[in-house]
Amino acid sequence: MLEIGHDVLTARQFDRSDLIRLADVASRLEPIARGEKVCRVLEGAVMANLFFEPSTRTRISFGTAFARLGGSGLDTTGLAMTSLVKGESLADTARVISGYADVIVVRHPTPEAAKIIAGGALVPVINGGDGEAEHPTQALTDFYTISRELKALGKEIDGSTIVILGDLRYGRTTHSLIALMSVFENITFQLVSPEALSMPDAYSDIARERGHRVNVFRTLEEGLAGADVIYATRYQSERFQIDPSVREAAERLRLDATAFRAHAPEDAVILHPLPRDEVFGELGTDLDRLPNLAVFRQTDNGVPIRMALFATILGVADTFEQWVTEPAWPLRRRSANP
Ligand code: NCD
Repeated sequence: MLEIGHDVLTARQFDRSDLIRLADVASRLEPIARGEKVCRVLEGAVMANLFFEPSTRTRISFGTAFARLGGSGLDTTGLAMTSLVKGESLADTARVISGYADVIVVRHPTPEAAKIIAGGALVPVINGGDGEAEHPTQALTDFYTISRELKALGKEIDGSTIVILGDLRYGRTTHSLIALMSVFENITFQLVSPEALSMPDAYSDIARERGHRVNVFRTLEEGLAGADVIYATRYQSERFQIDPSVREAAERLRLDATAFRAHAPEDAVILHPLPRDEVFGELGTDLDRLPNLAVFRQTDNGVPIRMALFATILGVADTFEQWVTEPAWPLRRRSANP
């Protein structure tokens, strides 16, 4: 159960009631997330965003989420620009930053780095991605998106079929996603990847142990059948050398509009944590015209769900509404297609 002051280190720590509560808080925060309302509940609070690996949406959405609640963010990016290159331990860095900030978000290339930081920190720590291991807040974003998209189609998460496609070995978002969605009931997970990039048992067993069906496929034809949700991912080429036979297998699993129409149910929702690899094309841009493609609704959802997380661990989830006012500045945003 997620409480005030807790760290967020793994998707395994959440239970079903946490997710329902976070989704409820996130939906109440939506107008603030979009800038239609202003909230100063975290005025005076400081968040440290420590990003030691590349990031666009995770780092900026954490910063936006904290700022929309009235707090301020400090960023450090890249190992090279920090004292870690001078030989400082992660635990020492964590203790130091605790004197400067009220919450720490960290992304690091080493699995367990967030846990080590949490061990040395005096304030809550949120894992923004630890190497090839986990990315729990992306999974929260994905859960929130899946729940909204399925609801709009008159469907439920319980009993649904979730396809996870692509690099399931090194793709940390898939590890956190299967763990998180396993808190629901009666899910069929269809894991589709080249054999060499199969999901490690440590993650797929979480779903098996909770009684879900976990089926492994090597083709889109079999793997997309019956899907309510298709979650495609990028091949993590920065983490391994893709050999020609794996590349060939991965090329056969590219999801574009033709493959989608041929093999997936008409109303399947398509997600991807982004970035998509434009050169490799694991998620074709010809899908952008289909309303099924929810990837930009998914990126937008990263803000309210991270706001809900901050509000919960900083203890303002029940009180933020008292701090809401009208913006003094005119909102100017063009409407998006799908
Ligand atoms: C993912 C990540 O960093 O793990 N990106 C993200 O945070 N949305 C996925 C990826 O890089 O492929």
